[in-house]
Amino acid sequence: MSLLEIENLRVTFETETGPVQAVRGVSFGLGRERLGIVGESGSGKTITGRSVLRLIRPPGRIEADRMVFDGIDLTTASEKQMRALRGPRLAMVMQDPKYSLNPVMRVGAQLMEGLLRRDRLGRAEARKKAIAALEAVQIRDPERVMEAWPHELSGGMGQRVMIAMMLIPEPDLLIADEPTSALDVTVQAEVMAILDNLVRERGMGLIFISHDLRLVAQFCDRVLVMYHGRIVEELAAGDLMNARHPYTQGLLNCLPKIGGSREPLPGLDRTGDWANV
Ligand SMILES: Nc1ncnc2c1ncn2[C@@H]1O[C@H](COP(=O)(O)OP(=O)(O)O)[C@@H](O)[C@H]1O
Ligand SMILES: [Mg+2]
Repeated sequence: MSLLEIENLRVTFETETGPVQAVRGVSFGLGRERLGIVGESGSGKTITGRSVLRLIRPPGRIEADRMVFDGIDLTTASEKQMRALRGPRLAMVMQDPKYSLNPVMRVGAQLMEGLLRRDRLGRAEARKKAIAALEAVQIRDPERVMEAWPHELSGGMGQRVMIAMMLIPEPDLLIADEPTSALDVTVQAEVMAILDNLVRERGMGLIFISHDLRLVAQFCDRVLVMYHGRIVEELAAGDLMNARHPYTQGLLNCLPKIGGSREPLPGLDRTGDWANV
């Protein structure tokens, strides 16, 4: 059975100037595999990911014909059920550790929090698990990192700590939203290898969101290409170079620089019919 099934997902934000349709009828299924979602900035990738966890705040509104996670209907689940799913079963790593780590809590205390509270482990055992999680993301001096404050971590370190934190409850599905885009190429490759390993070892499903089509194709089994709130093309990772859609070809031809501008891709030719959706 597939892990996640989404049919006709729509997300609308009511704004002062009228409704903004961020996601316009997205459908896809996911097994225990690595699925990439790519598209330029503003194409609806993050909102699609957050919708799966039902983390869209009013005035945003989620609608879907079907949204089922491991047999659980996410469209009708209560807020209490959703809270129980988020973390232990469904997790999302955000782009910037600054928004996910608590700045006034040491790293170790944050890693141990869920283990102490949700899993009701004793301190010694929680500490052991937290250290093991740091080791799993290849942090060499976990004891020292446990004592660190979030602001003392480098970008790559912060990213690893976040991934460790998300993986402690062993979720069935991890959504990683541009988890490496703030990192330099070497650290980026390391973080990708860590995620890849964890997917293989734990048989977890992974949705990897990025604006970097080549990175995603290299790392995922399957890639969805989003434009303006819709999926315009779906590719097996190996078929990247045969991408048919002009937008996908455009993404290949004008990859933004890491850490560069987040504006819509400047070199993209938008004169085709596809652009007017
Ligand atoms: N709170 C909001 N209010 C209004 N529009 C929003 C809000 N959040 C996102 N959007 C719109 O939704 C669209 C998709 O955003 P997003 O999913 O963040 O894009 P991506 O992750 O692909 O860069 C954007 O055009 C954005 O302007
Ligand atoms: Mg985004």
